[in-house]
Amino acid sequence: MADMIKVGVLGAKGRMGTQICAAVAGEQDMALAAGVDVGDDREALAGCDVVVDFTHPGAVMDNLRWCIGQGLDTVVGTSGFDDARAAQVARWLAAAPGTRALIVPNFSIGAVLMMRFAAQAARFFDSAEIIELHHAGKVDAPSGTATRTASLIAAARAEAGLGPPPDATVTALEGARGAEVDAVHVHSVRLAGLLAHQEVLLGGHGETLTLRHDSLDRASFLPGILMGIRGVGSLPAGPTFGLDRVLGLD
Ligand SMILES: NC(=O)c1ccc[n+]([C@@H]2O[C@H](COP(=O)([O-])OP(=O)(O)OC[C@H]3O[C@@H](n4cnc5c(N)ncnc54)[C@H](O)[C@@H]3O)[C@@H](O)[C@H]2O)c1
Repeated sequence: MADMIKVGVLGAKGRMGTQICAAVAGEQDMALAAGVDVGDDREALAGCDVVVDFTHPGAVMDNLRWCIGQGLDTVVGTSGFDDARAAQVARWLAAAPGTRALIVPNFSIGAVLMMRFAAQAARFFDSAEIIELHHAGKVDAPSGTATRTASLIAAARAEAGLGPPPDATVTALEGARGAEVDAVHVHSVRLAGLLAHQEVLLGGHGETLTLRHDSLDRASFLPGILMGIRGVGSLPAGPTFGLDRVLGLD
């Protein structure tokens, strides 16, 4: 029992938090030490080996400041991380040697691999466009995953010396060609019944390659989160962004 990972969950009563608590409790090498939600005392997390945060963009920074101050390793899925937030977390960690934070915008292993494969393939094709499809309750478009995929594709194309993709469009209804992220066209579909889906379309000489990922259930995030909990203690000092290193892809 000595090497059980003691896990605390912030946002324990939320849609993700509930599933994370159940998943942790079901793992042989982990123990759910504390579940904390709004109104609970964070002190319950003291003594944990790893704290998982799936709360709210308005709450996560204060939680991280507190956890890092306590020397607790964190695994963070809460959205809303920009460069300024990343820099702030790096400063907090620099003042707490031996403490790590793993911040992951998308814990779905399939989505992480889709982004890798898209970046790998991009240099071989003249054209690349993205279609992302989500449930009708999503408030932002395009999705963070689509934006990140487009940036990775654009970087791979630039490195390969590819110019703009062929496109003869001279007249178009506004929006018909989608949004442009780093000059990659991204089309957003919002449809009742869907959860989170993405297609990367690559086109070349007489052939196309389509990469498609479907998140069918919030359970898709759990294997990546459990790997993050197991892996965060072995990460290098400072914050780590994305699941790639934990998956052994970096
Ligand atoms: N990285 C990923 O792969 C991934 C996957 C799914 C969701 N998310 C993100 O995770 C976050 C949570 O998603 P959700 O669907 O579970 O939301 P949710 O609203 O169902 O749950 C959030 C929970 O956090 C609690 N909370 C808010 N402030 C808190 C605080 N200061 N301390 C403790 N608990 C607090 C809320 O009461 C609620 O129970 C969102 O930002 C979402 O975008 C990320």
